[in-house]
Amino acid sequence: MRLSIVLPTYNERANIEPLLAQLLPLQQHVSLEILVVDDDSADGTAELVRQLAQHHSCLRLIRRVGRSGLASAIKEGLLDATGDLALVMDSDGQHEPAAVLRAVQTLQQGELDLVVGSRFHADAEIHGLSGRREQGSTWANAASRFSLPRTYGQLTDLMSGFFALRLEPLLPLIRAVDVNGFKFLYELLAVSRGRLRVAEVPLTFQPRTSGSSKLDLAVFWDFLISLLHSLSFRLLPRRAISFALVGTSGVAVQLLATQLLMASGYLGFEQALPLAVVAAASSNYLINNALTFRFQRLRGLGLLRGLLKFLLVASLPVLANVGLASAYYSFVARDTFWAQLAGIFVVFVWNYAASSRFVWNTP
Ligand code: GDD
Ligand code: MN
Repeated sequence: MRLSIVLPTYNERANIEPLLAQLLPLQQHVSLEILVVDDDSADGTAELVRQLAQHHSCLRLIRRVGRSGLASAIKEGLLDATGDLALVMDSDGQHEPAAVLRAVQTLQQGELDLVVGSRFHADAEIHGLSGRREQGSTWANAASRFSLPRTYGQLTDLMSGFFALRLEPLLPLIRAVDVNGFKFLYELLAVSRGRLRVAEVPLTFQPRTSGSSKLDLAVFWDFLISLLHSLSFRLLPRRAISFALVGTSGVAVQLLATQLLMASGYLGFEQALPLAVVAAASSNYLINNALTFRFQRLRGLGLLRGLLKFLLVASLPVLANVGLASAYYSFVARDTFWAQLAGIFVVFVWNYAASSRFVWNTP
């Protein structure tokens, strides 16, 4: 039996060496391969792993430029792995190395496809997760459970970053995982349509010894988008959902901005409105840049150039919107509600398609 361990790293220079020191001795039990997938860490993680790999032939470094996230790093590591079995775990020492053999043995003995290391198993312990994070995870688990096939109802930690799987039969599913999603494990279960034989082992979660967590607002946002994506039967593109949510926030910005500008006493509605529209469009632009298109994020001068392009792209449909709504009103039906809705829909589709293409250069 050959085992591939996939370790995603982002700025884990201080943590990766002690972890490897605990994992390398597993070679006494199994034929081992360790793949470190680094997203161009600034702290020299890749350089360190490269040095270590010169002394350990089972260690491989995959170094990616242009950070594109945890789920995509896991996917890449699994697709490049050559073992019969693969195991994914965090590289910051929060996942106990002792659980590796436990998970692998359970996988083999139970003739299973997937074994999850669960922090919420009756025999597990959680250290070093703030009360808020633990609450968040519990809540996210509950919210995701309803969107997954019922056969996975026994799993208590759908957010886990620790899991072992049989590679050969799962490769087509791994290939299909949408890495813009929220968590790799959750997405894998979602695309598997309930066909995987799964089980759990307890996982003791330890405090981080060094560095800090990369879980941020963007990760939470991805979770929200994933839930809505599931609710749409995975039909609506994730980025379109994200774009639409941001657009909704723009409505609030516009209403608030007109109120504030008019409250100043200097501006009437007609003068305040165009300013408020530009404020809302700019706020949409900045939020989309930070969330929807964060892997193509624009910075510095590019950010300013992008804003001008975005305003230009958005100004065309505003004219089209007015045109379409009045055309609908005069030629289709004298119905102001549906006329406006038709206009708004066209604006949304245009803005999404055109700004993806022209502002953030994605297809
Ligand atoms: N290659 C790569 N690229 N690795 C990344 C990236 C990325 O963009 N972001 C994070 N990682 C690596 C980290 O270096 C670490 O080894 C591991 O992924 C987990 O990241 P943390 O930032 O330490 O996550 P956490 O401890 O806050 O979150 C834990 O709990 C989550 C559920 O609540 C982890 O166990 C997650 O995997 C888990 O889903
Ligand atoms: Mn961590």
